[in-house]
Amino acid sequence: MARLQSFEALFGRPAAVVTDAPGRVNLIGEHTDYNGGYVLPTAIPQRTRVEAAPRSDGVVAVVTANVGRGTRASFRVGEEARRGAWLDYVQGIVTGFRALGAPLSGFDARIESTVPLGSGLSSSASLLVALARALRAMLAVPVDDVGIARLAHAAEHDFVGAPVGMMDPMAASLADERTALFLDTRTLAFERIPLPTEAELLVVDSRVAHNHASGDYRTRRAECERAAAALGVSALRDVDAAAERRIGALPAPLDRRARHVVTENARVLAAVEALRSGDMDRLGRLFDESHRSMRDDFEVSVPEVDALVASARAQPDVYGARLTGGGFGGSIVALVKRGRAAAVARAVVDAYGRTPGRRARVLVGGPSAS
Ligand code: GLA
Repeated sequence: MARLQSFEALFGRPAAVVTDAPGRVNLIGEHTDYNGGYVLPTAIPQRTRVEAAPRSDGVVAVVTANVGRGTRASFRVGEEARRGAWLDYVQGIVTGFRALGAPLSGFDARIESTVPLGSGLSSSASLLVALARALRAMLAVPVDDVGIARLAHAAEHDFVGAPVGMMDPMAASLADERTALFLDTRTLAFERIPLPTEAELLVVDSRVAHNHASGDYRTRRAECERAAAALGVSALRDVDAAAERRIGALPAPLDRRARHVVTENARVLAAVEALRSGDMDRLGRLFDESHRSMRDDFEVSVPEVDALVASARAQPDVYGARLTGGGFGGSIVALVKRGRAAAVARAVVDAYGRTPGRRARVLVGGPSAS
């Protein structure tokens, strides 16, 4: 990452507010959020940090170290327009605060992030939530953390145009590293469940980058909507596993898509029970089942990610492993016996690297994780 000058060097005065927000790794509950279902993410150590100070001329000027070499861009408040570039995230948040009637007369912002882009760890939600926190602090707008998540979601969904669900903004706004956020995405009711003491998480990036504004994610979402309509419900959340026969009677591939969502929802509830009772073997089996379901029924995995999961599973200290996030690339999350993540990480990275052109990177839990 290019080193970025300080806020003061960039803008000639100190920042008025400094905020941040984490990336997330989802433990289980994939592609359930836009079906009204359950998810179970936790925060990762990597974060996006925003420094900002108000200006009075109606201009928003932003510098980020993460796109190119200290990219600088600006727009005028009230003239937000989608450009298909990173500035859209900033414009989306500004649009949301303007809709709340916030007294916005422009600002300067410096953005820096350690959350890798395109790895399935929600760099965009961490950016959006950190930005929204900066505007909340700067403008003294009375919006709570769920409100911040809603603003972040609207920015990505409505302004940027990526048809994502509520999991990532809720995780960036409400999750911490010691607990898993058990979230009902329909009601936004949530509970923080302590992470196990006997296991640790390992996150390894396949380095196959995904992009959720692109077609595949959108297609899956549309397929789920068609499956729900065919089953006579407003969202697949309302179908339970007992409806197996009706799901099986849907035309392909809607049958497989619905089966993934319905069984994955049930797996989140089972995973919460396993976490509560400290049953790591059961939690691990649920990770494995979730991966198979995403690979075979939802068809969002890729060979590189399957290879990472398989080599993690081949390690004796691994309870379970799965693709995490939206898929079509990205990272795996493995549940590993405490104290063994670094050794497992080395084995997984080595095995992956034996295929020419593949080079994995450890993001959480391993020797080279930042
Ligand atoms: C992406 C989206 C989320 C969710 C996951 C899949 O991360 O941003 O809303 O749908 O994919 O679980």
